Amino acid sequence: MKELFKLFSGGLIQYLLLYWTLIAVVSLTDIRYLNLIATMRPDCQDNKEDKSMAQNPEKTTVDPAEVEKFNALAALWWDAKGPFWPLHRLNILRIDYIKSKLCHHYGRDVAAIAPLSGLKVLDIGCGGGILSESMAALGAEVKGIDVVERNIEIARAHCDSQPFEVEYQCIRAEDIEQSGEQYDVVLNMEVVEHVADLSLFMRSANQLVREGGVHFIATINRNPLAWIVAIIGAEYILRWLPKGTHQYSKLVKPEELHSLLAADQLEIRDEVGVQVNPFNKQMAIVPFTGVNYMLYATK
Ligand SMILES: C[S@@+](CC[C@H](N)C(=O)[O-])C[C@H]1O[C@@H](n2cnc3c(N)ncnc32)[C@H](O)[C@@H]1O
Repeated sequence: MKELFKLFSGGLIQYLLLYWTLIAVVSLTDIRYLNLIATMRPDCQDNKEDKSMAQNPEKTTVDPAEVEKFNALAALWWDAKGPFWPLHRLNILRIDYIKSKLCHHYGRDVAAIAPLSGLKVLDIGCGGGILSESMAALGAEVKGIDVVERNIEIARAHCDSQPFEVEYQCIRAEDIEQSGEQYDVVLNMEVVEHVADLSLFMRSANQLVREGGVHFIATINRNPLAWIVAIIGAEYILRWLPKGTHQYSKLVKPEELHSLLAADQLEIRDEVGVQVNPFNKQMAIVPFTGVNYMLYATK
């Protein structure tokens, strides 16, 4: 019995030591160094507007390295087997989530053909328009914005062949906020982990939600498990995403979003985790929010 106790306590101590070493390493090592070693950053295409934003010394949410990364991949937005395949898969899941929450909030019939008709939606960081188009297909009046001009061109071109309209514009959230425009729904999906100034970004996004409106956010948590699963696992082992897609230091803890939402009087209504099965790549909504998560708040 004594031996068993010794063995157990020894194992526990080893486990705790390993865990805290991992936390220390993750905290002290900027994952960007790993990305540099991997030298996987895609080549940059010329983009005048993005460069002028990068040279602007004012406070901005735009990180030039992120612009460069998305600019280089822009042509692949609608390739469901390309680097954006996780967003195409996730889209199926999140459309249902967003639709059901909005129908509940705005008293719409979830089974209607166009349940979101008449709702003004702003999709911030819309990329090639994967989510914007889905919202428009549900009847919403959608505006998609992004800071990468090439993304906007791809989104416009793709939408041309669709039976609905989406207005796209290359503009930052902080600039569109100045116009005083407000929306029934602001979508902020898989973007906060790519911005340069999270507080400024959230401030602007929150201002764009009208009184009584809804703000959806999806991102990746920041903790050792998220680092192992979402960066080491997805980028370096399974190679689901290009290496360097995410930087550990830019991932966002739910508590950080909670306080940035609360600062602008938005109240969290729901928060769920998103789990990916590594064997069949199926995604599911789960209660565990330790890695990928989505939440929504109302004003
Ligand atoms: C991972 S993609 C997500 C695309 C889309 N929201 C989706 O979920 O399908 C991140 C997008 O955020 C955009 N982005 C990066 N920084 C941004 C910023 N400061 N403001 C707005 N969009 C930004 C990128 O250009 C890219 O299109």
